This record gives sequence, C-alpha cells and structure tokens, in this order.
Amino acid sequence: MTPSVRVAHGLEPIEGCTVVVPVARDEEGLLIPRGLPGEFSGAVVPDRIDSAWATRQGFEAKVGQTFVLRTMGSPTVILCGIGDAASADAEVWRRVGAAAMRASSRGAEAALLLPLPSTIETRAVAQAVAEGALLASSRPIASKTTPSDDAPTGFVVVPVAFEGVSDEDRELVDEGAARGSTVAEAVCWARELINRPAAQLTPRRFAHEALRRLEDDPNVTVDIWRDTEIENERLGGLLGVAAGSLEPPRLVRATYSPPGATSAPHVVLVGKGITFDSGGLSLKTPDGMTTMKTDMTGAAIVLGALSVAARLGASAKVTAIAPLTENLPGNRAMRPGDVLTARNGTTIEVLNTDAEGRLVLADGLSLAVELEPDAIIDVATLTGAVRIALGPDVAAILGSDASLVSALRACGEAQGEALWELPLVDSYESHLDSDVADVKNIGKPGQAGTIVAGLFLRRFTGGRPWAHLDVAATGRAEADDGYLLKGATGFSLRTLVAYLLSL
Ligand code: BES
Ligand code: MN
Ligand code: ZN
Repeated sequence: MTPSVRVAHGLEPIEGCTVVVPVARDEEGLLIPRGLPGEFSGAVVPDRIDSAWATRQGFEAKVGQTFVLRTMGSPTVILCGIGDAASADAEVWRRVGAAAMRASSRGAEAALLLPLPSTIETRAVAQAVAEGALLASSRPIASKTTPSDDAPTGFVVVPVAFEGVSDEDRELVDEGAARGSTVAEAVCWARELINRPAAQLTPRRFAHEALRRLEDDPNVTVDIWRDTEIENERLGGLLGVAAGSLEPPRLVRATYSPPGATSAPHVVLVGKGITFDSGGLSLKTPDGMTTMKTDMTGAAIVLGALSVAARLGASAKVTAIAPLTENLPGNRAMRPGDVLTARNGTTIEVLNTDAEGRLVLADGLSLAVELEPDAIIDVATLTGAVRIALGPDVAAILGSDASLVSALRACGEAQGEALWELPLVDSYESHLDSDVADVKNIGKPGQAGTIVAGLFLRRFTGGRPWAHLDVAATGRAEADDGYLLKGATGFSLRTLVAYLLSL
C-alpha cells in the first residue's frame, strides 16, 4: 500500500489525524520550535517540554526518536526528535518524515507540523520529509493471504511560521512535497521489483514492467531487444550468462531527451539485471542463493532514476541500459573454461560462472561507449567482497574520472547514501590475465575482489569518463530502519537523480 502525500495550508483541521510535533535539543534542554499553533485539529500542541519529565520518559529528542502523547477524545500527538536544531540537514528531515509515519496511527493521516523557516531551504525540507514518509511506509504488495495494513493512510505536511507562512514559502512547500513524492515513488517502484520473487520477475516480465512505466514518461523512448536482436547485436556476455536458462534474456534501452536541447550533456546509466543468480554451474550454496532474486537491483535503479529525470524535466540527456537474464545451471549453460566474445570484441575466459554480472555489464558498457556520452555510470550488486570492505551502510565507488567520482560522492552525501572510493589499482590488472583470452572473469581468491571487478569493467568503458557503484551490500536492509524497510533499499537511486538534476 502506498500512502499519499499532501500539503495542508492555513491550519485547516484534519479529521482523525495524528499530529506530529518536531522537538529539538540544545545544551539547555528540549525545545519546541517557535511558531507552532497552540492547537491543531483539536489537539493541544505543547509550547514547552519539561526537561526533567522528558528525562524520566527517556525522551531525548534524538533524531527520529518519538514519544506518543494520548488524551482520550482528542487526536494523538507525537513528539519527534530532530536532534541538535542547528545541524538538522536533509537526512535528519527524511528520518523525521519516516518516524512520523512509523509512529502514527493506522487508518488515518499523519500530519507533521513543519516549522518555517527551517534549518535548510524550504523546498528541500518539504522534499525531505515527504521522501522519508513515503519511503518508510510504502510496503510492497506481498504474497500474504492476509496483507498487513500498518501504515497511516497518508502524510500531510502542515507548514507553520511565527508570523504566518508567506505565499512564497507555501509554493516552495508544495513544490518540495511534490518532488519528494516523485522521487520516493520511483524508489518504491524499484524496491518492489527488487523484492519480487524471481519466478514472478523473469527477464521478459521485467522488460514488460519497465516498458509499462517508462512509455508514458515525458520525452522518453524505450527499446526492448529480444533474443534475435541480442544475437544479431553480438552481446556475447549476456548470451553466455543466459544460456543456462529456459527464460530468454532481454535488454532494455530507454532514452530521455530534454525537449529543445541539442547540446545537453549525455549520461548513460548501465544496470546489472540478473533476475536470479544461482551462480550457474559454479553453483552457490543454498544460503548464498537466498537473496539472489535481488541481483537485478542495478537495472531497477537506473531505470527508476531515468524515469525521475524525465518526470522532473532534467536538462541532461539520459540513457539507461539494462541487460536482463537469469544465471542458472543447465545442460546448455556456459561452462568454466568457456570463452565469450563481448560486444566490443574483447574475448573473456569464464573461469567462474558466478562472476556473471561483469559479463553482462561488459556488453552494457560497450553499448554505452558507442553512444559517445559525456559520462557512463554503472550500478551493480557485483561483489560479496564489498560487504567485507565497507559493510552494509556504505557502497563502493570506483571510476576513471576524478570529477565524476567526486560529484557522485557529494550527491550521495547529500542524499544519505554514502559512497566510498576504492582505487583502481593498475598493478592488479595482471590478476585478470588469461592464458587463452584477452581477459578472465575472476582475479585471485580473497584479494581485492571489488577492485578487480572494477578493473574488469574498465576494459569496456573505452576511455570515457566512467564510475561504477557496487551496491551488493547496501542494496538490502536486514531490518526496518528509519526510511528503509527490510529488503530492497533502492540505495543510489536518489543519488543518481540528484546527480542528473545537477547537470
Ligand atoms: N551477485 C553476486 C554478488 C553478491 C553477493 C551480491 C552477495 C549480493 C550479495 C555476484 O554475481 C557474485 O556472485 N560475485 C562473486 C564473484 C566471484 C565469483 C569472483 C562473489 O562476490 O563471490
Ligand atoms: Mn554471481
Ligand atoms: Zn550476481
């Protein structure tokens, strides 16, 4: 169920809502922001908080911490911590939006009193709370016979200010909330695809879903390559991985062209789209396979990001390329020792069929290079090693262009999606030397797996400015946390959107 976001101006009462009140803290104690109304929708809004009382309740106004105040016959009021008032950034407000939805009652709206001016720009704060609220509460339709319905029906941003909200601020709040809804909806779309069981999201089905979403987006064209085109176009990496499955591969190519712009910068996004990764003949263990329906995360992310760029009218031209296939063992499957020829003519000795992501990305990146873009960014659940290196909260970024990498890192930082750069160590190139082909698809066991995978990909980037995001660890959350829900996170989609909109 996806709750909606709206803005309520002028303190009009909202039937049955839960009222959420931000609370800051400083050295002196807890602070209710200036300018809140004394009453909202029949609920008394506190104008101060007794510090000794709050301490006894264990409420310290930490970011996203909530405390519920119930009075019979009037709406529930929820205090929601924003931490140190001076340092509340967009990430804090996203977490406030999320906490507001998590703590509010089901079956009615959650209304957040949003004090203006805020610590950050008005449009940005409205966007952040809307994003956080939607991301925390849009639970995908699962396959439970009795679906749980534990979220409020909607989220209402109620801007308030000491001397009344200016017309200008009203407009900015409307814009920000709308933008936040657009971004969060796309993340929820991607998450839903990522969480879908592999039997229900085959390459064909994925391509169909992508087409269904993107075909109505403004200034977007979508091509889907089927078996014969994939063969005719010599996508040897994709064909090799697909050989073991009865399900045919697909390649989705979507392009957003900003209207009237002839000299717009062109960014090509490439996403790994393995709808199920069993490892192939180099079979994974049962445990290693349990989450492998999510191995098409990169593909969902890049298509979602393109969709948002189009809906928000980005100035850059954007192409998204998503090679889609299963990686299964079978009597037609590629074998360890087989040699594939990628789209750009590079021959690849496949020594481990479980290093399949780089094989399909080899073709995707080759196609990207042919478009002669200004930048190429790929997103992939590429290596288990990235979890060892950086853990579940930080994704690896590697790239051939320092300014592209630093721009993406800055966008990630602002979006609460941390990216840490790993080096493309030239001397490790030799780890990829093959006796029989131009390159082999694995390096040395236990040695810099994420970096060597990056070096492999670099061979297909034709010297273009390129960055690679390895989201193998950050793509999934083990539990509900802030605006993340257990399962797919959609990590890096918002960063890509921020980057595309910055051009
Ligand atoms: N899809 C996996 C990577 C992965 C692992 C994603 C765990 C999410 C969680 C990828 O295709 C893979 O199997 N990589 C191998 C590469 C190795 C064989 C060189 C890995 O990381 O073990
Ligand atoms: Mn694999
Ligand atoms: Zn994989």
